[in-house]
Amino acid sequence: MTKTLTFLGLESSCDDTAAAVVRHTPGDAPEILATVVAGQTDLHADFGGVVPEIAARAHTEKLDLCVEEALAASDLNLTDLDAIAVTAGPGLIGGVLAGVMCAKGLSAGSGLPLVGVNHLAGHALTPRLTDQATFPYLMLLVSGGHCQFLIAKGPEEFSRLGGTIDDAPGEAFDKTAKLLGLPQPGGPAVEAEARKGDEKQFRFPRPLLDRPGCDMSFSGLKTALLRERDRQVAEHGGLHQADRADLCAGFQAAVRDVLIEKSRRALAEYLSLSPEEPTLAVAGGVAANKALRSGLETLCGDLGVAFLAPPMHLCTDNAAMIAWAGMERFRLGAQDDMSLAARPRWPLDRTAPAMLGSGKKGAKA
Ligand code: KG4
Ligand code: ZN
Repeated sequence: MTKTLTFLGLESSCDDTAAAVVRHTPGDAPEILATVVAGQTDLHADFGGVVPEIAARAHTEKLDLCVEEALAASDLNLTDLDAIAVTAGPGLIGGVLAGVMCAKGLSAGSGLPLVGVNHLAGHALTPRLTDQATFPYLMLLVSGGHCQFLIAKGPEEFSRLGGTIDDAPGEAFDKTAKLLGLPQPGGPAVEAEARKGDEKQFRFPRPLLDRPGCDMSFSGLKTALLRERDRQVAEHGGLHQADRADLCAGFQAAVRDVLIEKSRRALAEYLSLSPEEPTLAVAGGVAANKALRSGLETLCGDLGVAFLAPPMHLCTDNAAMIAWAGMERFRLGAQDDMSLAARPRWPLDRTAPAMLGSGKKGAKA
C-alpha cells in the first residue's frame, strides 16, 4: 500500500494515557503531527507502585481529552484520518480495556478501520519511526515494566533472545531509591547520586552472568543493597551521604555490567544473521541512563554496529509508537473489528518460552 496514511494512536496499558497522530507517505520519513501524554505519577505516588484500579479510572477520564488535544494540535478532524490504532495488550487489563473501548467507540462512530497493536511492538518499531531503521535490527527494551532483547525482522516478526526473569531494571532503580530515601522515579535520582560515588566501594552481584544466554535477573540486587545499607546503618548509626552515593554507584555499575554483557551476547547471536546494516536500538525509560548508554555505545563501536537511541519522549510510553506500529500492520493488510480483545499478556515472540516476571507495572510480555 503506497498511499499516504494518517493514523490516530491510543495508549493506556500502564500509567500513561496517550494519544498521537502520525502521517506517513512511503519513501518519506514519518511525521508525528501531535503526541499527547498525560502521566499519572502523582496518583500512584503514595502506594509505591501503579495501582491498577486507579490507573484504569484515570485512563477512562483522560482518553477522550487526549484524543481531542491530539486532533486539535494536528489541526485535523476524525474524518481526516485513515484509521485508529490502539494498544490491545500486554499491560494492566483495566487500562488496556479503557483504551480498546475508546478506540472501538471512535471507530464505530466514524466508520474508520480499527487496528489493535501490541505495546511491545510499539516500542520495538520505534527506531523505524524515528530513524527509518531497516530490518533486521536488535532491540534492547529496558524500562520500569520491560526488559528484553528482540530481533525485529518485520512489523510482525520478532525473535526474543532473552529477558528478565523477575524485576525490570527500572523497577530495581525505583526500589533502590526507596530503600535509600531518594525520590521516585528512582532512576534519575539514583543516577545523580551515583555520579558522586565510587562504584568500587561496594561490590554487588552480577546475576545470571555465569549462565549462558541472554536472560537476566534484577530482583536479588535490591536484597543485596538492603543488606549492605543495614550493615552501614548498624556500623555508623545511620547512612552517611558518601556511603549512599557509593551504594548507588555500586548498584548502577552492577545493572550496567549485566546489561552490557548480555547485550554483547545478544549482538553475537544477531550478527550471526549477517544483517546488512547492523544496528542496536534501545527503548524504555532506563535508556536515559548515561552509564548504560555510554557502555552500549562503546560496545557497538567496538563491533562496528550502529547504535540508535530514539529521543526520550519516544523511548518512554507514548501513542506515536502505537499509531506507527498500527500503520505498519495496516500496510501489511491487517485490520481488526469489534471483536478486538484486550489482553493482559501478549508475547511478541510466541515461539520463545513464557516470561515469568510480572512486576509492579503488570505483565512483562
Ligand atoms: O519507559 P518508562 O517511562 O515507563 C515504563 O516503565 O513503562 O520507564 C520508567 C522507568 C522508571 O522505572 C525509571 O526509574 C527508569 O525508567 N528511569 C531510569 C532513568 N530514567 C528513568 N533508570 C535509570 N537511569 C535513568 N536515568
Ligand atoms: Zn512501555
